[in-house]
Amino acid sequence: MPTSLWNSRELRDATQGELSGDVQVHGVCIDTRILQPSDLFIALIGYNSDGHRYLRQALEAGASCVMAHDEAAIAEADLTDDPRLLKVTDTMQALEALGRYRRSQFQGKVIAITGSVGKTTTKNMLATALAPYGRVHASVASFNNHWGVPLTLARLPKEADFCISEVGMNHPGEIAPLAAQIRPDIGVISTIGNAHLGHMGSIDAIAEEKAALFAALPSSGIALCPEGSQGLARLTDALPADVPLWQVGTTEKAIIQLTQLACTAEGSHFHLATPQGETDVQLTAPGPHLARNAALALGAIAALGLSPQAGAEALHPFLPEAGRGQQRLLPGNVTLLDESYNASGPSICAAIETLALMPATRHIAALGDIRELGEFADAEHRALAKPLIKHDILTFCCGSHMKALYEALPPSLQGGYAETSVQLASLLRPALKKGDVLLVKGSLGSNMRALIALLEQPVPTTQHAPESA
Ligand SMILES: Nc1ncnc2c1ncn2[C@@H]1O[C@H](COP(=O)(O)OP(=O)(O)O)[C@@H](O)[C@H]1O
Ligand SMILES: [Mg+2]
Repeated sequence: MPTSLWNSRELRDATQGELSGDVQVHGVCIDTRILQPSDLFIALIGYNSDGHRYLRQALEAGASCVMAHDEAAIAEADLTDDPRLLKVTDTMQALEALGRYRRSQFQGKVIAITGSVGKTTTKNMLATALAPYGRVHASVASFNNHWGVPLTLARLPKEADFCISEVGMNHPGEIAPLAAQIRPDIGVISTIGNAHLGHMGSIDAIAEEKAALFAALPSSGIALCPEGSQGLARLTDALPADVPLWQVGTTEKAIIQLTQLACTAEGSHFHLATPQGETDVQLTAPGPHLARNAALALGAIAALGLSPQAGAEALHPFLPEAGRGQQRLLPGNVTLLDESYNASGPSICAAIETLALMPATRHIAALGDIRELGEFADAEHRALAKPLIKHDILTFCCGSHMKALYEALPPSLQGGYAETSVQLASLLRPALKKGDVLLVKGSLGSNMRALIALLEQPVPTTQHAPESA
């Protein structure tokens, strides 16, 4: 058995809770459906569920310890005198306490990544790129909020060399308390764009919020962001004295300098100059946005005082997560660029640029609404007409805001409009032909996955799309 993540003494010390038994915890989990044997299960109270209902289930699944605060639920699960019960005053606060305790024990370097888009991709790229330099611990998926951040820290093995935490926000004021828990050595802002404009009101407000991550850096820290980011003045204003801002970009002023960028459907190539040395970077995953994320990730490695070359080599085979630009063949020999995970203005623009790189008989986009844009929604959707026209992309749209975009397109690029993604599938499917490349993208709520699922069903032989000439 590897050394445990938490022992009883540490659990008591960190949470000030009561635990009578001697337990060895090898993981931390808040969801019994993915619980592993020897995990600590924490009964959190969520929006529509209470983890206290699953205490017994957690033990049956092999949890070595369960953390709870609700007396009635503890009694009901017959755990009052159980040596595996860690009883605390409040499970959410105790999770944060675990995170803070582990962070204060941690001797390695901590990197925090926030931004409007590209947090998870940059975090995953950095985790991949850092692997040759030591043991890396990173947030799972997009665990970046009030429970995701402390969970990431509570899961941090003491012996790791690096911890990478994604930090997210939907509303003003969310980043500062998360940054205070993470206490990053290096702060990275992936992008400043118009995600969540609806709640945030303006780009400056978004930049100011992201700047809270930089404000949390120690005087020995380094901040990184894309060169010429929107709201740059807000970012520099927030930097503590002595903390340098390393801009990542193409001009001479950039500390991390990306030059000779060449993007094709087979991937991207560029040269990177950093204060810790230069390196060529060859990425398999296509798209200029991924090249920019890679430059940020390698810039963070240089900010750690390491030469980025081994990181660049490790990044070569990197592929994005499901729904963020993976390619596969659909029935009828149509190539799908699956961007169905989520959407914002900048990420749709990035996906259009990637689509345009791919060799195709026709480039086609099926776009669902971007959510959370509030009063800016229609204008933001209409703005997508420009890149679609530039790259001559036949566009299918669904959702009420996408209607504004659809109507802004010239008739030659209007493929079809429907209210829902499922309705759109019945317009899109007969229109697809062998050799087409299809981008599917929309916010999670616009359910573009359902459209993909319908397109993935075998084509009935009688309905085979005619082959293009
Ligand atoms: N630097 C970038 N600029 C624009 N779009 C990006 C960038 N990085 C990733 N994306 C795209 O944005 C979407 C969300 O990416 P992800 O890394 O999950 O971001 P986040 O974690 O910030 O939500 C994906 O479609 C991805 O391809
Ligand atoms: Mg994310």
